[in-house]
Amino acid sequence: MSILARDLNRMLNPAQLMRDAGMEPDAWQADVLNSDARRMLLLCSRQSGKSTTCAALAVNQAIYDPGLVLLIAPAQRQSSELFRKVNEVYRALPDVPRIVQESAMRLELANGSRIIALPGTEGTIRGYSGAKTVIVDEASRVDNALFAAVRPMLATTQGRFVALTTPYGKRGWFYEAWEHGQGWERTMVTAADCPRIDPVWLEEERALIGDWQFRQEYGCEFVDTDEQFFASELIEAALTSEVTPLWS
Ligand SMILES: Nc1ncnc2c1ncn2[C@@H]1O[C@H](COP(=O)(O)OP(=O)(O)OP(=O)(O)O)[C@@H](O)[C@H]1O
Ligand SMILES: [Mg+2]
Repeated sequence: MSILARDLNRMLNPAQLMRDAGMEPDAWQADVLNSDARRMLLLCSRQSGKSTTCAALAVNQAIYDPGLVLLIAPAQRQSSELFRKVNEVYRALPDVPRIVQESAMRLELANGSRIIALPGTEGTIRGYSGAKTVIVDEASRVDNALFAAVRPMLATTQGRFVALTTPYGKRGWFYEAWEHGQGWERTMVTAADCPRIDPVWLEEERALIGDWQFRQEYGCEFVDTDEQFFASELIEAALTSEVTPLWS
C-alpha cells in the first residue's frame, strides 16, 4: 500500500493505526478510536486495554490533526506510563512524521504536534492552553479542581476530552459525569468483556481480593468506599425535596 493510501485509510478508519502498530483492536477499542465524539468517558476494568487505546488515539491525533495533546493522571508516574505506551505505538508505526525533540515526558513531531505528559497538579496544568486533545488516565482519582482547570484548555480548539478509569466510589466529577452528565459518549468494559483476561484467573482474583474490591476493579461498579459509614443509596433515600426547610 502506498503511504498516501495508508494515511487515507487511517484517517477514515483510525482503528487501523492500532493494527498498523501490530495490535488487533477489540471491537470496543475500534469503536472508541473511530468515534468522533468530543467528550468521552471510558469506564473499564483493570487490564482491559484502556490506556493502550488512548495511546493510539493520542498518536492518531498528533499525526493527522497536528497540535497539542496532553496526557494527565493523578500522579506523574501514571501519566509517564501512558506516555510510554504512546511512545511504543508511535515507534511501531512505519512512515510517521520525524521526531524532532523528545524527553521522558514529551514528544515533538516534525508536523508541529506535541504530546506532553503532565502530573496531576493544577499549577502545572494551568500553563497549557489550546489543546487538541486532553486524555485523563485514572480519571476517577483526579480531583474536581484539576478537572475544572483542564476543561478551559479545549475552549478555543473545540478539542476532544477523553477520561478513562476504573471506578473509585460514588464521588467526584467522573462519577457525576458518568451517572448524570450530558453530552458524554460512554463506554463500559468489564473484565468479562475482555478476551485477554482468563475467566478462571478472574475467579481466583475474586477470592483473593474480596467481592467489594473485585466489583470495583473488574466489574466497573461504583461501590461505596469502605470508610463510608452509610451506603450512598441509604443517604439518597433519606433525602427529600418535599419538606420545607425551617430556614430558607
Ligand atoms: N487489542 C489488544 N490486543 C493485544 N493486546 C492488547 C490489546 N489491548 C491491550 N493489550 C495489552 O493488554 C495489556 C493491558 O493494556 P493496558 O495497559 O492498556 O490496560 P489498562 O486497562 O490501561 O490496564 P490498567 O488497569 O493496569 O491501567 C497490555 O500489555 C497491552 O499491551
Ligand atoms: Mg492503564
